[in-house]
Amino acid sequence: MTELNKIALKIISNGKGILAADESNGTMTKRLEAVKINSTPENRLSFREILFSSEGMKDCIGGVILYDETINQTSSAGQSIPDLISSSGAVPGIKVDTGTKELSDSPEEKITEGLDGLRDRLKKYYELGARFTKWRGVYSISEKYPSKLAINSNANALARYSAIVQESGMVPIVEPEVLMDGNHSAEVCLSKTSEVIKKCFNELILHKVDLTGIILKPNMILDGNLSKNKISNEEVSLKTLKCLKDSVPKEVPGIAFLSGGQSEIEATENLNLINKNNNTNFIMTYSYGRALQQSALKVWSKDTKDTIATQNTFNHRAKMCTLAAQGKWASELENK
Ligand code: 13P
Repeated sequence: MTELNKIALKIISNGKGILAADESNGTMTKRLEAVKINSTPENRLSFREILFSSEGMKDCIGGVILYDETINQTSSAGQSIPDLISSSGAVPGIKVDTGTKELSDSPEEKITEGLDGLRDRLKKYYELGARFTKWRGVYSISEKYPSKLAINSNANALARYSAIVQESGMVPIVEPEVLMDGNHSAEVCLSKTSEVIKKCFNELILHKVDLTGIILKPNMILDGNLSKNKISNEEVSLKTLKCLKDSVPKEVPGIAFLSGGQSEIEATENLNLINKNNNTNFIMTYSYGRALQQSALKVWSKDTKDTIATQNTFNHRAKMCTLAAQGKWASELENK
């Protein structure tokens, strides 16, 4: 077993999943302003520190993805944030892409940037304690899109990023996110997501990335959020499994889904069914941002001094997701 494979398995084994707390300052500002909290470095840290020091971290969270600001911050007790995360048994990770820009020649689509200077940034993050990283490529579905150009260029960037990250001794999370925005059907989502993931693996293999030392972070197969038709959760799980079985090489140790705008319960229920029906050898877990933090953020915003209530809310959500990652969740458990 290689060191990278060991790190990947430590993050996703035994029902553990990933807390994606890597919202950029821009995105975090939107989240905080939506609950009427000022987006200052202190407030961003305060909410995140409450999550990172909660009980639920120990049994449920195998890795936390941080943003550059947070990995450089210090807890109220004077501990570095990566040390605080490691002390609960989770692995600190870092988002290393620098966001998306218009794709030239197809300006309605996006290309993710951040390869320039990446090697040097990785050295610094490793010294700070990070052992895994994240890079997100984003694709939208419409009649024309995603274009071959967007599929190819994002796959190439994801592969170049992954190769450099592994060379630096860290596990790359490979995140090709096909957005749920639009009125497309789940069938179209299935065919586009399969095409996107297959192309990513072609490029990863071309760039000699060790597939046993990555984690794939895909979207689930859903109807577009504006579609009138809604397939059942059972169908979501079967289509998602079909997509991954057909497009992900067997060497990959695990898959950690993004929540992508699903509600907390929807994301939990779908993950649970994916695990109940799992006919692959992949570990299937979560790497949720909104679907782990939404309720906790609401509770915190009502009384930012009430750490216990915020942590209880987060602990519950993390526990439900961890049960779902083992196919052991049931809706009755939500009210216990
Ligand atoms: P959501 O779970 O809120 O989609 O966020 C996950 C993530 O890391 C997106 O890049």
